[in-house]
Amino acid sequence: MQDAVVTCFGGAYAGIDPELRPATRPEFGHLQSNLPLRLAGPLGLPPQDIGARLIDAVDISTSSIHRLGGLGTLELAGAGFINVTWSPSVLGAAVRDLLTDPHLGVPAQESPKRVVVDYSSPNVAKQMHVGHLRSTVIGDALARVLTCAGHEVVRQNHLGDWGTQFGMLVEELLGEDLRDPAAVAGLDMAELLALYQRAKVRFDDDPGFADSARRRVVALQSGEPTTLALWQALVDASMTEFDAVYSRLGVLLTDDDFDGESRYNDRLPRVVDDLDALGLLTESAGAQVVYPDGFTGRDGASLPLIVRKSDGGFGYAATDLATIRHRVDDLAVDRVVYIVDHRQSQHFEMVFAVARAAGWLPDSVEVHHVGFGTVLGPDGRPFKTRSGETVTLTALLDAAEEAAAASYAGPEVVRMVANAAVKYADLSNHLARDYVFDLTRMSATTGETGPYLQYAHARVCSILAQAPQQTYAAGTPHHPAEQRLALELAGFAPVVAKVADTLEPHHLTAYLYGLATALTAFYESCPVLKAEGEVRETRLGLCEATRRVLSTGLGLLGIEAPKRM
Ligand code: ARG
Repeated sequence: MQDAVVTCFGGAYAGIDPELRPATRPEFGHLQSNLPLRLAGPLGLPPQDIGARLIDAVDISTSSIHRLGGLGTLELAGAGFINVTWSPSVLGAAVRDLLTDPHLGVPAQESPKRVVVDYSSPNVAKQMHVGHLRSTVIGDALARVLTCAGHEVVRQNHLGDWGTQFGMLVEELLGEDLRDPAAVAGLDMAELLALYQRAKVRFDDDPGFADSARRRVVALQSGEPTTLALWQALVDASMTEFDAVYSRLGVLLTDDDFDGESRYNDRLPRVVDDLDALGLLTESAGAQVVYPDGFTGRDGASLPLIVRKSDGGFGYAATDLATIRHRVDDLAVDRVVYIVDHRQSQHFEMVFAVARAAGWLPDSVEVHHVGFGTVLGPDGRPFKTRSGETVTLTALLDAAEEAAAASYAGPEVVRMVANAAVKYADLSNHLARDYVFDLTRMSATTGETGPYLQYAHARVCSILAQAPQQTYAAGTPHHPAEQRLALELAGFAPVVAKVADTLEPHHLTAYLYGLATALTAFYESCPVLKAEGEVRETRLGLCEATRRVLSTGLGLLGIEAPKRM
């Protein structure tokens, strides 16, 4: 319908949303748009004329409304509405397709892309905090959706496991006579944090220690065995802690996905040398920098991307440049997706610009920074503990489990509900938006929440369990609530494609909520188990198709779909 608007009324109206909504009454068809009414003002034309022209221009076989195997019809109605209607047999066929297709209508990719999803990426010897929660949850959902859409996904956990702080940490270990790598690798998160704090205090207070810490960085970078063994032990200890969080959250990340900054250490000098050879490098206050085109600060001066600091150390940006080269040259990716806090968006834009300018990132490779907003506390400010510290991810998950335990019993169910509450709330917000971590609202079993969708799934499972049968021969839906449910079901494949394309998981959360709402409306007016004959078959078929779409859809969000709860 968007195309038709442009055809009829020009590019000024490109991208206008037809806002197709379920029709308020059965005689209005299945979906309804008030677009002619909305355009009447700006166009200065009677809505009926606008509607008639739009209906003439819409090619429904290519329109986004067309998500069913057969054509719907468009009709002008009322003061300026367009009604869209499908024949009941087309709706029935769409449900039957879902019952026979294990991919639920998601087509095979004609040209599958190899996509790196760079996500979670916490820092060694530090706690994972709420920012890493968002990266982990969003990245995991996107990795699942892209895989479902037929792409080949390479997960990369770009661990912060390198840098000057390790000089300080290793020096502290040696100073405390903690020289046994096996013992260091066994430290838990609390012990690692305490070590970090002790090292930091000494680094700030004792210039002699700070000097040795700096020399220790050089030893680490040149691969001195004792230093390297202790560094590795610190990384191992942290990885054990991160893995515990990943398995608690039920995310896909494993040890094979760790692709930390340290991996790129050997490639950093080449980044600088090659930039120099390309004539892109400039010296600024002793540092080696690149000024990519189009980046200026508030004062209008060009912004530098620092690749080598004045002390000779390579920074975060140099590592990201080396990482891009590895992904393009060695992994042969088509698309790279970074899921990182929106505060790093300028860093990524500049890194991408430099990589393009250097010819390391060909036009054929797409890169996206999927930024996201901040998690806020109940006071509407960035989430902090009472003493003003960043809230750790573990503390947050503990709180979510406590909230779930108020309504559910049994550790497994509690964890499942808590994860659903946290993940759904996170994914259902527009990425860029900050949101308040309100456990009461997130954990409620009514409203737009993860537990509500789990409940909808469990409820449909319990109906199906009372009518065990091998096959579901869905017939033609006649009741408007049956038809609306069928129509919602047909929207699954398009929404998967939309999320894979836009990298915005909230389309899928909204879709599943709409499906659950249609299911509730269906229950209210269409008895399933008490119905007979073909009507019963059709309704059971609708229940089974809904069960499949809900469980697959929740699965794509990384949310478990329980049979009972
Ligand atoms: N470790 C970084 C942080 O905690 C995130 C890394 C994101 N990925 C990347 N390729 N830079 O802020």
